[in-house]
Amino acid sequence: MTGQRSELIVVIGAGQAGTELALGLRREGYAGRIVLIGQEPIAPYQRPPLSKAFLTSPQTEESLWLRAPGAYDKAGIELRLATRVLSVDRAAHVVDLDDGTQLRYDKLGFATGGTARQLPGARRARNLHSLRTMADAVALRSRLVQGRRLIVIGGGFVGLEIAAAAVARGLSVTVVESQPLLMSRVTSPFIGRHMKEVHTAHGVDVRTGVGVAELTYGPDGQTVDAATLTDGSHLAADEMVAGIGMNANVTLAAEAGLAVADGITVDVHARTSDPDIVAVGDCATAAHVLLPRPVRLESVHHATEQARVAAATLCGKSRLYAAVPWFWSDQYGTSLRIAGVIDGCDSSVVRGDPACGSFSVLHFRGDTLVAVEAVNAAADFIAGRRLIQQGAAPDPDSVADSKVPLIVGSG
Ligand code: NAI
Repeated sequence: MTGQRSELIVVIGAGQAGTELALGLRREGYAGRIVLIGQEPIAPYQRPPLSKAFLTSPQTEESLWLRAPGAYDKAGIELRLATRVLSVDRAAHVVDLDDGTQLRYDKLGFATGGTARQLPGARRARNLHSLRTMADAVALRSRLVQGRRLIVIGGGFVGLEIAAAAVARGLSVTVVESQPLLMSRVTSPFIGRHMKEVHTAHGVDVRTGVGVAELTYGPDGQTVDAATLTDGSHLAADEMVAGIGMNANVTLAAEAGLAVADGITVDVHARTSDPDIVAVGDCATAAHVLLPRPVRLESVHHATEQARVAAATLCGKSRLYAAVPWFWSDQYGTSLRIAGVIDGCDSSVVRGDPACGSFSVLHFRGDTLVAVEAVNAAADFIAGRRLIQQGAAPDPDSVADSKVPLIVGSG
């Protein structure tokens, strides 16, 4: 057992990372009090399905809960929902809550996540959506009505998954992406080009390298009717979604005087510049033993793994965050799995034939394999992830041959 019963660990943010951190503390043997604070009014839930199956099926909110509500009580975790932390006083070890109460913590975890970026210059409108929370997904789902015209602004993960869901619901969909390639924040040009073909084949009008110059509002000022793009084209719409990325929620940490870059700066143990405070998930910019520089990763797997490391750290154990990060997306029948981080690689090999719809792209830094993007190629993803974890340097010519299993003869 670690921690006196009178000790208190406060976790700010009840998303995937915060919930894993709170539960992880118990797995590490921590015996003190845990308070998990979430600003949304509902129990912690899984976010990945919100842009996928949740939009095309009558799934209930409860079906996405991370744990049954009784699990928190059972684990001795005090869940405070619909509650915001207003400030953190590190010197006094106190957090102020918006219900007027204060908590005196011994250790603290930031898992404050991120906020969907709003379209610059756009006013609020009933039919202009973003997607980050369960409430956003419930609202968007109710508007995906067959025959409507949907403009998706942003061809990243959120935008493309919504586009695929909307096609399944019978909408006519246009995607507007300001970069020349789709999904370019996380994926390579091979994947960006392939996903453009996939969406086009499903009837989506994909416009890349073009942004939104202006929105036109209806007479009541409450709805958007059309978008004028930066190439001068004009698109009428019944619904619009902006999926243009997220900003990490770092204000609270910055105001508390913690080191902050684009996320809260943490080391390989998830520790911030204050030894009593960890930060995990989308809000943290983390050093990672496999990566050349600190990164802020937006992935459920990362949130879970890093939270486990952070739980150990808060319990006085020294565990390194060393798991290979991975990401996935499902769009139509296409399953995209990415292991590793492409940033900083200097050569790439395509394995298999993109025209067949099943292939992978392997990325190298020097001789070392650092990332694998697998499109409908689960075996390559699994083997690739293992090779990256091993720091393997497989021969690029042999891995290009998709008839040879990736694992054989590779490093
Ligand atoms: P993203 O960063 O993946 O994609 C945003 C896209 O919008 C980029 O391609 C960017 O170039 C484009 N963009 C930015 N401003 C624009 C503008 N004014 N006009 C047109 N295009 C513009 O972020 P996204 O898709 O919004 O996702 C937000 C968060 O949700 C991320 O953390 C993402 O990882 C997560 N997410 C992850 C999923 C997955 O892993 N499968 C699924 C859904 C969301």
